[in-house]
Amino acid sequence: PSDFSLTRRSAKKVVILGAGVAGLATAYELGKAGYDCTILEALDRVGGRNWTIRGGDRVTELDGSTQVAKFGDGVYLNAGPARLAQWMVTMDYCRELGVDLEVFTNSNAQAYIYHQSMPAPVRWRTAKADMYGYIAELLSRATDTGALDAALTAQDKERLIAFLSSFGAVGDKASGFRYSGTSRRGYSLNPGAGDQPGTPLGSVPSLSEVLACGVGQRLSFEFGYDQAMLMFQPVGGMDAIPTAFAGKIGRQRIRLRSKVTRITDLRDGVEVEYQDRHGRTQKIRADMCVAAMPPHVLAKTAHNLGTEVQAALATPSVASAGKIGLEYRRRWWETDEDIYGGITATDLDLATIWYPSYGYGTARGLVVGYYNFGAEADAYAALNPADRRRRAIEQGMKIHGAKYRDDLLSSVSVAWKLQPHIEGAWVSWPSRQGAYQLLNEPAGHVYFAGDWLSYMIAWQSGALESARKVVTALHRRVLSTS
Ligand code: PHE
Repeated sequence: PSDFSLTRRSAKKVVILGAGVAGLATAYELGKAGYDCTILEALDRVGGRNWTIRGGDRVTELDGSTQVAKFGDGVYLNAGPARLAQWMVTMDYCRELGVDLEVFTNSNAQAYIYHQSMPAPVRWRTAKADMYGYIAELLSRATDTGALDAALTAQDKERLIAFLSSFGAVGDKASGFRYSGTSRRGYSLNPGAGDQPGTPLGSVPSLSEVLACGVGQRLSFEFGYDQAMLMFQPVGGMDAIPTAFAGKIGRQRIRLRSKVTRITDLRDGVEVEYQDRHGRTQKIRADMCVAAMPPHVLAKTAHNLGTEVQAALATPSVASAGKIGLEYRRRWWETDEDIYGGITATDLDLATIWYPSYGYGTARGLVVGYYNFGAEADAYAALNPADRRRRAIEQGMKIHGAKYRDDLLSSVSVAWKLQPHIEGAWVSWPSRQGAYQLLNEPAGHVYFAGDWLSYMIAWQSGALESARKVVTALHRRVLSTS
């Protein structure tokens, strides 16, 4: 315990570059152990990509465009991270920091799948019922006719057929295990009282039609280790996490609008030069440095860490992602379509539409009109904000009709590649050898931290785990050398 609080030693000074989730967690954990931390942050807010946009907030992008959010009270857009898996360390930080959580609905049977080859959007539940139904039909028949006898005992066959009967809701052997639709698909008229049994959704597509439109490939999304329900979100916006971190660290330790211009490793410490909020050049000396900036931004920053480090920082490729928040005067997805949260998946360039997992039944609400990656994100990034909105609306109307345009109040869009000092959504490594390994070690007195140095890239948990790893390594070194 005496070592951990650095009792009888002068506290080591650490300068942390970047007040994103990795930088904040580094300062928070080192602060617990008695280190004297200072964070330099280029933006005028903490959080980095963890960014919640509310009414009055300004979005300025590198192409010179500026938007001011006009959202009403309580309406927000999580422009960056928006969902937490239960196994992620982010959940533990929320507990420790006192950040309240609520369920984030990542998969909702009531949301849609829409592929342009389809006559109309289908609900996830309908797509599932049909796909599972036909699989069960085919597999039951194959099993029953002996096609799988090399793999199955007589008892296995019986049990598999019993499973498929419930899995796909198919008919019995006499019917040829036929899939002919089921109430799982949903109803055009819901079951009611008295003599109203409801009208099941009609026109069951053929197996061939189901295969042709490709809905089946969507169904595995919710199996993912990082995407499976339940998922969670902080109440009131994802930025509750950086806000809580900053409060614990102490705002006086965080220098906003302070852009790092040079990192100099010294024989016995490190010196960081930065431009302060007044445009003046400042210098800060510390025993250690933790660079928690994106690698491609570090790669543009002057330093003396060597050519190998420089090459390594430039190695990962930078990915694009974009989002638009569409604020509506009424929650038509709830009142007209019975959708309370969740995500519609499409093969349109908007990729996905997200319905809010908060504020159910209130007046206004915000739908994420696109959350897309790669070339689709680049295509929207190339447009000005008004054109992004026009395009998102035109595409989204294919699913939701005229109200998608007519009930719109306001919008804000973010193209992550165009965000100052961030310049990307996340990165990917060509391999986890070489450059990745090099940057997972300190360069002199400079450590690197971020989701980009983890196996959970594009997740806050990656940033948090990386910060924890660096804090541990740095503290061990301090203990062994002082
Ligand atoms: N974590 C981000 C998200 O959930 C990015 C991501 C998408 C990461 C899909 C992995 C898989 O949207």
